[in-house]
Amino acid sequence: MLLGYDIGSSAIKAALLDPDTGNTVASARAPSDHEMSMDAPRPGWAEQPPARWWRHMQAATDALRSRPDADLQAVQAIGITYQMHGLVLVDENHEALRPAIIWADSRAVDIGREAFGALGTDWCLRHLLNSPGNFTAAKLAWVQRNEPDVYDRVHKAMLPGDYLALRLTGTVRTTPSGLSEGTLWDVQRQGLAVDLLDYFDLDPGLWPAPVPTFSEQGTVTSTAAATVGVPSGIPVAYRAGDQPNNAFSLNVLGPGELAATAGTSGVIYGVGDTPAYDPQSRVNTFLHVNHEPEARPRYGTLMCVNGTGILNRWLRGTLAGANGLSYQEMNAEAAQAPIGAEGLTVLPFGNGAERTLGNRDLGASVHGLNFNVHDRSHLLRAAQEGIVFALRYGLDIMRDMGLSAETIRAGHGNMFRSPLFATAFATLTDTTVELLRTDGAEGAARGAGVGTGLYAAPSDAFGGLEPVTTVPPNPEQAPAYAEAYARWTDTLAHQLNRPT
Ligand code: XUL
Repeated sequence: MLLGYDIGSSAIKAALLDPDTGNTVASARAPSDHEMSMDAPRPGWAEQPPARWWRHMQAATDALRSRPDADLQAVQAIGITYQMHGLVLVDENHEALRPAIIWADSRAVDIGREAFGALGTDWCLRHLLNSPGNFTAAKLAWVQRNEPDVYDRVHKAMLPGDYLALRLTGTVRTTPSGLSEGTLWDVQRQGLAVDLLDYFDLDPGLWPAPVPTFSEQGTVTSTAAATVGVPSGIPVAYRAGDQPNNAFSLNVLGPGELAATAGTSGVIYGVGDTPAYDPQSRVNTFLHVNHEPEARPRYGTLMCVNGTGILNRWLRGTLAGANGLSYQEMNAEAAQAPIGAEGLTVLPFGNGAERTLGNRDLGASVHGLNFNVHDRSHLLRAAQEGIVFALRYGLDIMRDMGLSAETIRAGHGNMFRSPLFATAFATLTDTTVELLRTDGAEGAARGAGVGTGLYAAPSDAFGGLEPVTTVPPNPEQAPAYAEAYARWTDTLAHQLNRPT
């Protein structure tokens, strides 16, 4: 059996996969009845204590164990996927020194801008040091400047998945793909981004040594085995950021293939064989899970809308959940309003600085509300459409970079469960959307199968991968969506031009 964990922003998921059939035997999530919070001690900040992930990881494992057929003593290897770009700091005893500064946190945007200015934007981008203010290196620079007492006690700095692997194995490691998502990997040097670290005056020794994404990366200690309830000595054999892992889960491994996800954040991720970049850094390129620099270079370019499922969740908590509506009922209600929501426009941001918008933090906003026309169904629809519009806006940037998009694969979960969302997405991006029955935790379990040698290559790991449905663009709906999208882009332009 292979065990996969997905350390998300709103839940920890676990999946147990039978490597012979390629099918998930059992899955679980924690918390089961609500979502983990992201703490915002100040506007623009986003933090989660690593202990929260560890606690929910144990709860998810306990829930998994209680499923019929879930024999955790039969686990041969563990794979981990995790929310990208976060910063975890530990002392010599591997105790977390402060809450993790996670992907949606914008406190270091100005520090990153400074670095772009000093090192040269072109130079940074050619070395694939994307949008440095959003990612891990600049977050550590922020700690060094603002919390020197914490910085002085840092023994190791790492990504969220590295921390969970450390708790399991006692071994501090990371991956080149992970370092690349943190603006810590210089693609020209094929090593640590020492020029950027020098500029920030950060000690390169704080970052763990990289091991390949698919490889034995340490073995579960007897203490962790007793706590989690898996055999002692089994390897952690895969770790990857959630977006490259989402692509891997969907067998999106080769140039020209695309994946999407619409969880807390929404992402379109395209694989290429060159380190392509957007000169304005509105979309970001990192090393894909199967990158081999000389033999088979593979890069993932992604556009991210921070405010995706989190907007839907906010609407539920604020408007719909109070009246007892489930997400399914919200989807059905949204579908009662016509395309374009009769002139109601939602900009779906509101979860930190949006990279696609040049790192502007516009907040979410509602435009054109008419009390005599609109009801809750319009608002629910306009929110789903607004998210799709934002994804289309980012895909256009990727298309301008030369990426061609005809088919996009996504897991049949999160917002893609909403038929309205999936059809609007297919129609607005003019792509066929293949929805597959899989998720990140299952992908991580498959990854562990590759890392431990049960599957010879990443592309061999997809037995049991089930398509649920294929959603083509709807030509009849296209004109109405095009009109609504034009209104959305006008509204966005207006907001972007507002003085801040
Ligand atoms: C991707 C990104 C988010 C997080 C969510 O660049 O920042 O999608 O990975 O966990």
